[in-house]
Amino acid sequence: MELIVAVYDDWGIGRDGTQPVALSADRRFFRETTRGCMVIVGRRTIEDFPGKKPLPGRVNVALTRSEAEIPGFTVCHSPQEAEALARTAQRAMVIGGGSIYRQMLPLCDTAYVTKIHCNPGSDTFFPNLDSNPEWHLETVLQSGEEDGVFYDICRYIRKKT
Ligand SMILES: NC(=O)c1ccc[n+]([C@@H]2O[C@H](COP(=O)([O-])OP(=O)(O)OC[C@H]3O[C@@H](n4cnc5c(N)ncnc54)[C@H](OP(=O)(O)O)[C@@H]3O)[C@@H](O)[C@H]2O)c1
Repeated sequence: MELIVAVYDDWGIGRDGTQPVALSADRRFFRETTRGCMVIVGRRTIEDFPGKKPLPGRVNVALTRSEAEIPGFTVCHSPQEAEALARTAQRAMVIGGGSIYRQMLPLCDTAYVTKIHCNPGSDTFFPNLDSNPEWHLETVLQSGEEDGVFYDICRYIRKKT
């Protein structure tokens, strides 16, 4: 499995249920990278989707502990159940949020990380891969600047043991 995330300089990823700073280059990269994939998302992050609707052109899998249905989403009740479903897909990507990234990072071997170089103050964080001995920065795919904010789109891979 793979994951995709945008982090600020402190590895914060969100505040009050949304991204305080979002770049259109990152949104574009997200759209292009996840197109046609299975995407695995926590129930709280769905609250921040446009219209709380599934992302078009993707197979949307929601993680929740509730038994309730979520229209447009295949519901899973554990990371393990989501992982089993991911095995049936050609490509599956974990797309957040904080609690889902933390629980599913050990099940992933590739992470697309957009580093947005600012520090807007977050209440939700992603594990710092630069200080994680299990991961290494393989390549910087794209760098740029938008409205005075610099960014790097990076690919990390899990080190072979
Ligand atoms: N920067 C980025 O790339 C990015 C991407 C995505 C999200 N975010 C940010 O992340 C924040 C949201 O993250 P979050 O941690 O609050 O919420 P979240 O991870 O999106 O969703 C949490 C919910 O997932 C379900 N869940 C969690 N663990 C589970 C498990 N083991 N089994 C079954 N269901 C489980 C629960 O749903 P129920 O309550 O229904 O049981 C839980 O309330 C927002 O600020 C958002 O903007 C940032």
